[in-house]
Amino acid sequence: MPLKVTTAKTFKPKPEDAKLNFGNTFTDHMFNMDFDPDKGWHDPRIEPYGPIMMEPSTMVLHYAQAVFEGLKAYRTDSGSIQLFRPRDNFKRMNQACHAMCIPNFDEGFLLTALKQLLVLEKNWVPSASETSLYIRPTIIAMDPFLGVRTSYTYRFFIILSPVGAYYPEGFNPVKIWVTQDHVRAVRGGVGHVKTIGNYAASLYAGELAHKNGYTQVLWLDGVEKKYVEEVGSMNIFFVINDEIVTPELSGSILPGITRNSVIALAKMWGFKISERKISIDEVFDAGANGKLQEIFGSGTAAVISPVGEIKFGSRTIKINNGKTGPMANRFYQALTDIQYGKIDDPMGWVEPVV
Ligand code: COI
Repeated sequence: MPLKVTTAKTFKPKPEDAKLNFGNTFTDHMFNMDFDPDKGWHDPRIEPYGPIMMEPSTMVLHYAQAVFEGLKAYRTDSGSIQLFRPRDNFKRMNQACHAMCIPNFDEGFLLTALKQLLVLEKNWVPSASETSLYIRPTIIAMDPFLGVRTSYTYRFFIILSPVGAYYPEGFNPVKIWVTQDHVRAVRGGVGHVKTIGNYAASLYAGELAHKNGYTQVLWLDGVEKKYVEEVGSMNIFFVINDEIVTPELSGSILPGITRNSVIALAKMWGFKISERKISIDEVFDAGANGKLQEIFGSGTAAVISPVGEIKFGSRTIKINNGKTGPMANRFYQALTDIQYGKIDDPMGWVEPVV
């Protein structure tokens, strides 16, 4: 499929690298592509970043038939730009399409188109430490129709945003709040899919957490409200008695690419790592017995995010005296060293762009 490129006539001022936070600045260009049943995916194009024209009846606005991804482009010390596991993101996005009744796309073509967009926007990839260009591929249902059914037409777009740390805390411990009153997802639903409704479902409890001074919500399973699932913006890891534990993929947890990378590194280093059910009581009991060494989250936006405090009902534990622990540090260092090309990539995760 030929990729049409229309360049912008005016260019936006770029923010200072040191002042970047998350997700509020967008580059000069974006990728767009449409789907209809006659033509399939067609008309792929790179064009100036701008609004998407849609009718108020557009289905995504009413029934949330949409999927998205998050990945990053990193600038190395030599000035080159590279991606981290982009093929895994497009593969997961296609799996999400299947779950949301959205037609599949050609992953190889999308990676080529993304690289072309990144070459055009290469000056937007920041170089200050801990900054990157966040990439948000998204597909939305476009039929103007109010009945509940799958849409016949779709828009695929990719936007780019230079970012710093996702949490205001940066790579410092965050405080998380465990809720038993609200659930994010249940098995058999779409909790394992990167679809927009999952994030809408997390907002109310997220607001409560913020009002109580916590950064994020740690979700429990939706049925027994007993087993730990994920944090919504990241997967979660516990270090208990020298065992690294992360909840197994139960069908209601996002299969994080950073999660998978942490597991692979832990295995390579010979650590004891388990993907298994872990109850919130096990976590708090380990805290009470002095066996809970660390908690940290993993995600593209969050990278590795240490957890310094966890609250559940009337119980609160401070972890590692509220400081970043050695495991979180080691995973953070190894992942970012690979992502920014500071060490050789032993896993074949890095994809050069330019
Ligand atoms: C990511 O880590 O890329 C995410 O999509 C999580 C969040 C920003 C929604």
